[in-house]
Amino acid sequence: MLAYTLIEKKQAGKSLTKGEIHYLVNGFLKKDIPDYQMAAFLMAVYFKGMTPEEINAYIDVILHSGRRVQFSDSNTYYADKHSTGGVGDKISLILAPLAMASGKVKVPMISGRGLGHSGGTLDKLESIPGFQTHLSLEAFQAQTDEIGCALIGQTDDLCPADKVLYSLRDVTATVRSIPLICGSILSKKIAEGVNGLVLDVKTGNGAFMTGYEMSKNLADQLKHFGEAYGLSVRPVLTDMSQPLGNKVGNWLEVEESLEVLQGGGPDAVREITLVLTTQMLALADPKRSEDDIRRELEQLLDNGSAYVAFLKIVEKQGGDITYLENPERYPSAAHIIDVKAQREGTISGIDTYQLGLDAIALGAGRKFLSDTIDPKAGLVIHKHIGDTVHVGDYIVTLHTDNKDAADILSSSIENRFTYSEHAVSQPPYIYEIR
Ligand code: URA
Repeated sequence: MLAYTLIEKKQAGKSLTKGEIHYLVNGFLKKDIPDYQMAAFLMAVYFKGMTPEEINAYIDVILHSGRRVQFSDSNTYYADKHSTGGVGDKISLILAPLAMASGKVKVPMISGRGLGHSGGTLDKLESIPGFQTHLSLEAFQAQTDEIGCALIGQTDDLCPADKVLYSLRDVTATVRSIPLICGSILSKKIAEGVNGLVLDVKTGNGAFMTGYEMSKNLADQLKHFGEAYGLSVRPVLTDMSQPLGNKVGNWLEVEESLEVLQGGGPDAVREITLVLTTQMLALADPKRSEDDIRRELEQLLDNGSAYVAFLKIVEKQGGDITYLENPERYPSAAHIIDVKAQREGTISGIDTYQLGLDAIALGAGRKFLSDTIDPKAGLVIHKHIGDTVHVGDYIVTLHTDNKDAADILSSSIENRFTYSEHAVSQPPYIYEIR
């Protein structure tokens, strides 16, 4: 077999056999196939797609590139949530402890780093001083069983093929591909050993799938292929036509999560968390009414139980909880700059993708894989779609140590917002549960 001829075959729109897909992915993992050939193959898939048989083979080879977690307690329901990615998406930081606090499920969550313009749960967790995201699979499993949740990053022995493919896709503009997203997300979730999976499929200009039909198609394919592997899958389509909540950036998002975990925070973040966690608990106990589940979850946020669960996870994974108890102790960025509106009207649209890139420019994400993240960096968004703005109102606050980036964005960031002279309604937080 030759990688060259397999690239040509996919380029011509033909389907590859299971053996050919295994040859490519395993060859790339073993470094027998170079980056440039794998990148060409991924680009061919991006344009030509994959048949259902090819998608199955692609999930299968990534899944079997590493180990698989197997929980031994058959009386426990293990569940996870995965987001297809967006800007300001801090839901995992709240949902995982909230679900743990309910005692109805255990949450073994393996998360990723920022990808493209979107942030990553792992980078957010690592902004908490001392927090360890590198646990062995044994420690991960033991902690999940002991306290009800563990939050880690992909290990070298769990879906290692996804780790290398994910990095290559990130720099070759091949993230926005349904077969490639299915392979990446589902292999990890199947390997994690969960029974149920809630998928937050984001749609809008800050999501990887911007159009609604494409997002719906992604949701349906994830459900179809996940169920074929015996997972119960519940996709929820949620809005990403503006940043989620007010804060974008790693520590800033931890701060906002703490607010929601204590019964406050922005309405959008609380609502999406409640809907997704309700779906997770409904997968575990389909006979229970969703209204009843939701009421219980609201109480767990409002009475501080979810917050206490978060502290427990952070402490267990070596994080310094004094920063969570006193967020004002966290170091501030060197430059905190309020950008004021020069125009007036009602916000009718936000370039969410560009705001994600702006947060990276301020230091909140990586331009290159080797870049280090500034956990303090990011944006506070003061105006959302439907809000009225007067000249001089605060529109965004920049947090950064990078003076040059701050200077550029102070004068240009208002261009990410479009204004209307007429009233504009807010987009819904949730579109549908599929
Ligand atoms: N999240 C993943 O884990 N993989 C993708 O391909 C996209 C989002």
